[in-house]
Order: sequence, then structure tokens, then C-alpha cells
Amino acid sequence: MALSTQGAGRAGRAEPPPGGIRVRHQPVGSDFGLEEIQAIAQTLQQDAQTDGPQNRAFEAEFASLCGVPYAFTMANCSVALIVAGQLCGLRGGDEVITTPLTFVSTSTSVLSCGATPVFVDVDPRTFTLDPDAVAAAITPRTRAIYAVHLFGQCADMDAITAVARRHGLRVIEDAAHVAGATYKGRPAGSLGDAAAFSFHSRKNITTLGEGGMLTTRDAAWAAKVPLLRSIGVNHGVEHPAADYWLPLPYDVEAPDGYIPTNYRMSEAQAAVGRVQLRRLVANNARRRAIARRYTEALADVPGLVLPHEARAGEHIYYLYGILVDEAEAGFGRDALMRTLFCDYGVQTITGYPPAYWFSVYQSRGYPRGLCPVAERTYDRILMLPVYARLTDAEVDYVIESVVGAARRLRG
Ligand SMILES: Cc1ncc(COP(=O)(O)O)c(C=O)c1O
Repeated sequence: MALSTQGAGRAGRAEPPPGGIRVRHQPVGSDFGLEEIQAIAQTLQQDAQTDGPQNRAFEAEFASLCGVPYAFTMANCSVALIVAGQLCGLRGGDEVITTPLTFVSTSTSVLSCGATPVFVDVDPRTFTLDPDAVAAAITPRTRAIYAVHLFGQCADMDAITAVARRHGLRVIEDAAHVAGATYKGRPAGSLGDAAAFSFHSRKNITTLGEGGMLTTRDAAWAAKVPLLRSIGVNHGVEHPAADYWLPLPYDVEAPDGYIPTNYRMSEAQAAVGRVQLRRLVANNARRRAIARRYTEALADVPGLVLPHEARAGEHIYYLYGILVDEAEAGFGRDALMRTLFCDYGVQTITGYPPAYWFSVYQSRGYPRGLCPVAERTYDRILMLPVYARLTDAEVDYVIESVVGAARRLRG
């Protein structure tokens, strides 16, 4: 959803190659099998179709994956990030430090809470928040840091949380890309005050196209999430007028002054998420194996900068991003994408444009050039196909194609 194919938007959409597409960037159709269909069929027999046993079980199982006491299903990651902002108590005038190199809803969730995103630059090797840049951007108005674990690899959370602790700030993990990844042996989702995951259909785990999860260790925050997720409805409180007539079964509150709406996930989605969760470890291992083969086979192609795995964590390769260093390669990123697609039938995609390039930020006066590393990364990066269903033959073909295209382009 967030990434454009073949540089579309700048270079336009290329014609399909004469031989057809040989390797797609994403598998055709969904990643669902018989097990998911059976889980849905069983769930359709239940009384509850929302807010029921599948949601509760999925939450417990996901909390266990993340090693945290609390997990809450959400309609998607974008709203989980908004709820996280509400838990931080964000209001107008507050600032939140974050990265521009991510899907835009990381930062628009901050705007939705009335606060102001402050974009700082990324580490040039991992593309995640640069902790020194975070420290330099803190002002008396800073309330929180939204750290994004990008492409399947966690941000440098020890350094980021150390800065946060010094200044009394909250840390939210945007964990959309990292279900099942670890950092220094600790699971993504357990590294900040709260974390937001995405189960959009392109992610390593998906719940019928849309879905999300919010995790936290904070008991006080956990007590508020059901209200923030569900219109402020509190089933545990009797209405004050209850003593002379049937007790009303619920009250409606405005927790911390926020007026919540409905961010729930359906039971069928949660049932599918539970099946997908059982496959997550194996699927992530397959993605890592594919990435390893790419990295071994492409290491000597001049001008291609392959993903850097920071030793601190286990990268689960939601995306496999290659930077094309035009000066050394003798060709640019767009030429490589076009050749891969048109001559070899290998579909690749670009990365995230820096968020502040979009109208929503340009109209608020954010200047271009704010984060040069993020901008240069967007201009030079392309993503090779990486997903569990990719066959070894397809992986070999992608490798041959990249090597062949690079040779051809160098002339
Ligand atoms: C880093 C990041 N954060 C947040 C989101 C938003 O997730 P969702 O589509 O579940 O709202 C995405 C989705 O692509 C993402 O990649």
C-alpha cells in the first residue's frame, strides 16, 4: 500500500515485459490457506462476531510472542499509533520526535492527537532513527519519541530509550514491520512504553487485509486501552441513575478528555491472525534465508549497498532494500528497476518518500531538505522480492537478473 512499484509517480508505470512478469514483488493473491478458511468457518458459528474469544486469545498469544503482559487487537496499526499518542497524553503544543522514512501514518497519528511531529534524520546504514539526532531535537515541548523499526529491523532502542529517560519522555515503537523480530534478544513490542503492529495484507502476518495490535507493559495504560479502542464504553460501571430502574449495562467515558471512536477488530480477523501467528516463526526464518542468499550472491556487484544487519538484533526482512550508489555502479536506481522489470520480468518497488514531502506537511511549512540521509535513501533504494512463498528457483532467478542487469547497464 505505502510503496510505489517501479518508481511510479516519478518515472511512471512501465509496460509489462514481453515475457510477462517472472517474479512478483508480492505473491499473487493472499497468503491464506485452508487453515485460515477453517478458522473463519468455525468463527462464523460463534455468537460473538466482534470483541469475543478469538480476539482475547489472539491478544494473549501475541502478548506472549512479545513478552509483555498486555496486547490489544486494533482495526489497523495507524489507529493503534493514535491510541498510543492518547496514552502519552499528547495535546496541541506537544512535540513528538520521529523519522520521516516510514509510512506516513507514523507521524500523521501524532497530528491526529493535535501534537506536532518533529522529523530527525536516520542512520545511513540501518535507516532507523539516529539517536544523536533525537537528542539534539529535544525541546521543553517534547513529550515522546516515535521510533520506527524499519524493513524488519529494530531501531537502536537502548540508545533511544536512554535519551528518553534522561528527559522524561515516552517511547512508542512503530512495530508495523517487525512481528517476531528481536533486539538484543528482546522481542519487538517490548522495547518501549507501547508498540503498534500492522497486519495489513503485505505484512509478515496479516488478518484479512487490515488489522493491528497495541502492546504495552504499563498496567495503567492497559486499563485505558479498551475505552480508547471502543468509543469510551465502560462495561464495568453502573450508570448513576441505576438505583431505581434496571441498571444500564455500561457508561460512556472520555478517558483523559479524548473522545474515542471504534477501533475494534472482528472475530474472523482475529481467528485468522491466530493461524498466521503459528506460521510466523517459520515464515520469518524463510525470509531471513532468502535475504542471506541475496546478500551472499550480490555482495560483489559494484555499487550495490546491501542491507546492514546491526548486530543488536534479528532482522526479519519485511523488505530487502538495496541502495544503488550511482557513482560506483555506473547506473542509477531507476535504470536498474526498469531493466529488471522490462528485460527480466522481476518486479521491484521503491521505498518510502520522506513523510514531510507530502502535502499534509508541505502545507504546514516543513521544508524539503530537512533530513538529507532520508531523502538520499529514498532516491537510491529499491526492494527485491522477499516473502515466504518465494521458491529457491525464483530467488536464483532474481539474483541472476540483478547480476545480469548490472552488467548490461555498465555496458
Ligand atoms: C511503518 C508503518 N507504520 C504504520 C503503518 C500503518 O499500518 P496500517 O496499514 O495497519 O494502518 C504501516 C503500513 O504500511 C507501516 O509500514
